[in-house]
Amino acid sequence: MTIRTLLVTASPHRDEALGSRLARQIAARQGSALLVRDLVAEPLVPLTMDYARALTLRDPMPRANATLALSERLIEELESTDRLIIATPMHNFGMPAALKLWVDYVLRIHRTFAASPQGKVGLLADRATLVIVSSGGFHRAGESQQPNFLTPHLEAVLNTLGIRAPQFVYLEGLVSRRDAPETIIAEAAAALGDAWCH
Ligand SMILES: Cc1cc2nc3c(=O)[nH]c(=O)nc-3n(C[C@H](O)[C@H](O)[C@H](O)COP(=O)(O)O)c2cc1C
Repeated sequence: MTIRTLLVTASPHRDEALGSRLARQIAARQGSALLVRDLVAEPLVPLTMDYARALTLRDPMPRANATLALSERLIEELESTDRLIIATPMHNFGMPAALKLWVDYVLRIHRTFAASPQGKVGLLADRATLVIVSSGGFHRAGESQQPNFLTPHLEAVLNTLGIRAPQFVYLEGLVSRRDAPETIIAEAAAALGDAWCH
């Protein structure tokens, strides 16, 4: 059976972004059918009062509205696929605004997670998930020049959806590196386990 992968991209560089290129290479190598949600080509509308009220009025059956329908469509993209790849730049030590808005549409109480006395419980099926993070500078131990709030934040979001073990791979120092894009992409692919690259 063909694997279905949802690719969520959030780079202003669109298809030229190295992270997106790596993601497409991986999907092609896996023979996976790709559903692409490009958050820059098709920006999501900011959250509306209807949406905020639907999520916070403790109403498990909120009134239909356009932003709730958009949330439903984005969640259905997750539900109709088996794997998830997020290719994102780091912007100001965290995730770009476009990706954060996607999070606010898909991480929804009573729909993709439930609140319990023990904490939030994910309601989506667990799936293999890869997050490809591109950054102009360095943020990992040893070469770290800045904090990285993106990884812990996005990991908590994915865990709360029900995705237990997202894997992260990093393309760092992209502003200063002079290596060919193919070299940088190949290095990141090599850093990934067999599960993604063979
Ligand atoms: C608004 C903005 C904020 C950025 N903030 C950071 C940052 O905090 N740390 C960093 O290392 N690079 C930062 N960069 C650089 C990008 O992460 C870098 O250019 C990366 O290669 C972009 O990846 P992309 O090609 O996938 O868009 C920033 C770039 C922009 C446009």
